[in-house]
Amino acid sequence: MANFYETEKAVSEYLLFHYGTKADVLPFGGPEAALNYPARCVSECLDIHLLPAQARGLDLGCAVGRATFELARHCETVVGIDFSQRFVEVATVLREAGTMIFSFADEGELTRKATATLPPDIERERVTFLQGDAQTIPASIGQFDVVLMANLIDRLQNPMQCLIGIEPCIQAGGQLIITSPYTWLPEYTPKAHWLGGFLRNNQQVHTFDTLSEILLPRFELLSRKNLPFLIREHARKYQWSIAEATVWRKKS
Ligand SMILES: C[S@@+](CC[C@H](N)C(=O)[O-])C[C@H]1O[C@@H](n2cnc3c(N)ncnc32)[C@H](O)[C@@H]1O
Repeated sequence: MANFYETEKAVSEYLLFHYGTKADVLPFGGPEAALNYPARCVSECLDIHLLPAQARGLDLGCAVGRATFELARHCETVVGIDFSQRFVEVATVLREAGTMIFSFADEGELTRKATATLPPDIERERVTFLQGDAQTIPASIGQFDVVLMANLIDRLQNPMQCLIGIEPCIQAGGQLIITSPYTWLPEYTPKAHWLGGFLRNNQQVHTFDTLSEILLPRFELLSRKNLPFLIREHARKYQWSIAEATVWRKKS
């Protein structure tokens, strides 16, 4: 399948998703609690009191980078990694310039212009963006005090490989934040690699239970909550989803 995340449609939708104002995203009103999802993945999930001084953060599947920048409020350095070269290019422009003009769909072929602007109190130079595969992160990248996987696991070929592979890259006491609406689709994840959403021996398998099986030997569960989010397709059509956010702390 051609990679949707390399397309200009995806760049536009994700710039709006990560940086759009309320007026841009919801011109006719709507579920405001679902706005600013990438920022809430950090503000509502990360326990900043558990971070050491000079913490390192990693945002896997960072897209155009909003959550990566938000992690820089609390971490001295943050790496954002995405498989999409185009997303990494756009995130890097935002790191350099702090702002970017983009177009987004309004109706049919009609578009509107908006400006993506980083919050001015975020130190952009703390952040680095890299193209890479979340399923094969090399040990040479070092260890992190927080790893965020926002809406990533159900877009991977092999999410179990990602979860097992990232464990050595997390410091003892470090946090792993996983948010996902668990939208399992064979276009992204072969069914044999789904973590939930199917029957096994006539028993329902849910993603949270599989995450617990994989992680609990080496992590404790710190929190579990619902995080709504909204991706605008055009002025009158949205994807409204409710991700589950689970936060895991690596045992010593
Ligand atoms: C649904 S989007 C979520 C993006 C962002 N975290 C957010 O919450 O808006 C999934 C992201 O994962 C990225 N991705 C997919 N497969 C990947 C892989 N193997 N390694 C790294 N990133 C990947 C996509 O390019 C896309 O940016």
